[in-house]
Amino acid sequence: MLTRKGEDYLEAILNVTEDKGYARIKDIAVALDVKSPSVVEMVKKLDKMSFVVYRKYDGITLTEKGREIALIIKDRHDTLKAFLEIIKVPEKIAEKDACTMEHELDETTTKQIKNLVNFVKSAPEYPQWLKYFEQFCTTGKHPCEEKTHRLK
Ligand code: FE2
Repeated sequence: MLTRKGEDYLEAILNVTEDKGYARIKDIAVALDVKSPSVVEMVKKLDKMSFVVYRKYDGITLTEKGREIALIIKDRHDTLKAFLEIIKVPEKIAEKDACTMEHELDETTTKQIKNLVNFVKSAPEYPQWLKYFEQFCTTGKHPCEEKTHRLK
């Protein structure tokens, strides 16, 4: 069974490979902020489970099965990060929390969050409800509520 940690490794291997064209133990250690011996240990496990191929001097390559999972995790990561930024979570925290939330998410949930993200991003102008939401975050009051009160 692939653990959350294993998923994080596959995601990191994908990101580093896309960035540099290859992934070595040291790159993954830097990306995940862990020591090289821990990377070697995990990568050997992932190799045994056929998620990666690890050759001491050639580095780490994702297998088709490993790449498939890495892409799903990365997609969840990007979707969750974009969603958190829409609801005004600062970028650094959004990045960190996307990594915590990206595991064990139902496909339907990811799809709906993605729909919301795309819905907001494709809006012809900055959505009114988001402006209201921002005001709500600072004042704790729904801007429309005041209008209703005034009408009474
Ligand atoms: Fe992540």
